[in-house]
Amino acid sequence: MTAGTPHSPVVLVLSGSNRTGSFNTMLASMMVDGLIARDVDARLVPLGHLDLALFDADVNEADGPPPAAHRLQADIAAADGLVIVSPEYNGAMTPLLKNTVDWVSRVDMATFFLKKVALAAATPGRRGGANVLDLTARWLPYIGADVFPETFGLPSIRHVMVDGELTDGHDERLSGFLDRLAPWFRAVSSDG
Ligand SMILES: Cc1cc2nc3c(=O)[nH]c(=O)nc-3n(C[C@H](O)[C@H](O)[C@H](O)COP(=O)(O)O)c2cc1C
Repeated sequence: MTAGTPHSPVVLVLSGSNRTGSFNTMLASMMVDGLIARDVDARLVPLGHLDLALFDADVNEADGPPPAAHRLQADIAAADGLVIVSPEYNGAMTPLLKNTVDWVSRVDMATFFLKKVALAAATPGRRGGANVLDLTARWLPYIGADVFPETFGLPSIRHVMVDGELTDGHDERLSGFLDRLAPWFRAVSSDG
């Protein structure tokens, strides 16, 4: 445990971008800080830092999932919840996010079953990743996840993120989102 009380929920904040200087990784990092401030034991996991090649069913059949998939699966299994902060690529999730979930599912296909997951996206456009947020919210229940009903889309990211801070009222929006999200994770951890 890295922060909070022994009863703090443990939450992994996954960034689905592997781009240097990623806005989504910056947003993920802000979410970690905001959740820690709300007594959630949050930790950033940049998926691009994991050593996961493109999923290959033959490799999986011959050797099983790679060590990085086993490590992430164990971390997810031990966590009370996840926040996935990921860009929109052609209206969908990034190959990095999908690939990671596919590998983890081969370690244990029940990994995401009943896992509490919240979704966020940052995009340069005006829709704040509405399409990928909607798509991901419909996809994750297929593998059993319990998706937080509210998503956080951050539009016009090149203009509203200035020197690592959110402007134009989006800092207040993020704060309100985290105020609603933290108790949802806390309810899970006290259930368990
Ligand atoms: C292959 C590709 C497809 C993209 N498709 C979309 C899209 O459908 N909608 C959108 O808002 N932005 C799209 N973008 C722009 C990304 O939102 C933008 O590059 C963003 O900065 C990526 O997030 P990051 O900074 O966290 O890496 C696309 C970018 C790439 C590389």
